[in-house]
Amino acid sequence: MTRILLLNSGPHSDASHGYRLAMEAIAASGIDNAQITERDLVKSPIPPIGRDYAIALTSQTAPDAKAFEWSERLIAELEQHDMLFIVTPMHNFTVPAALKLWLDHVIRINRSFHATPQGKVGLIKDRPTFVLVSSGGFHVGERAKQADFLTPYLRYALASIGISDVHFFPLQGLVFGPEAVAQAVREARQQLSGKLPLAIVCL
Ligand SMILES: Cc1cc2nc3c(=O)[nH]c(=O)nc-3n(C[C@H](O)[C@H](O)[C@H](O)COP(=O)(O)O)c2cc1C
Repeated sequence: MTRILLLNSGPHSDASHGYRLAMEAIAASGIDNAQITERDLVKSPIPPIGRDYAIALTSQTAPDAKAFEWSERLIAELEQHDMLFIVTPMHNFTVPAALKLWLDHVIRINRSFHATPQGKVGLIKDRPTFVLVSSGGFHVGERAKQADFLTPYLRYALASIGISDVHFFPLQGLVFGPEAVAQAVREARQQLSGKLPLAIVCL
């Protein structure tokens, strides 16, 4: 059985192009007995970072303290899955707020990373991670006329906790009408169909 954690972080939830393509790609990948856990970060929001969490994070607080309840839940959920699939729109050149909040709960000192003089050392086991990035304009390639802070940021943030087997797939030009959408989906589908089965073989 392959356990897949699917984080959906856009406002369109299961109507988004990214979500539909992710589900289609997983179904077509030939994964034996895939068990998908869906966490919709917009429909079922996780709590904002409050003062209790901020204080606990910067003091010697036990991992089972109430302040870490959500952080602990989200980290444990990540650890219990073999593969991570992130469906995200680009919002103002980077990750949407809902995904940033998930990262703020999951990237936690002495739980998901250690701080060393050489920098952060991740404590989470690496796992194949697929990120479908939807954008209204273009953020990759010749037609990109905007900065992409999403890809380097998310790659760096995940690497800080130990997840570096990360593959990004753009789904772009989504505001340019149905033909542009169809082409974007075709291209992303093709890229995914080449990469997804390879990652599964390595699991
Ligand atoms: C608040 C907000 C900010 C956005 N910022 C960007 C942006 O910086 N660049 C871009 O190309 N599209 C931007 N968009 C458009 C979305 O990325 C696009 O509509 C979305 O990815 C649609 O994909 P989906 O159907 O997979 O959710 C933004 C949309 C919203 C709602």
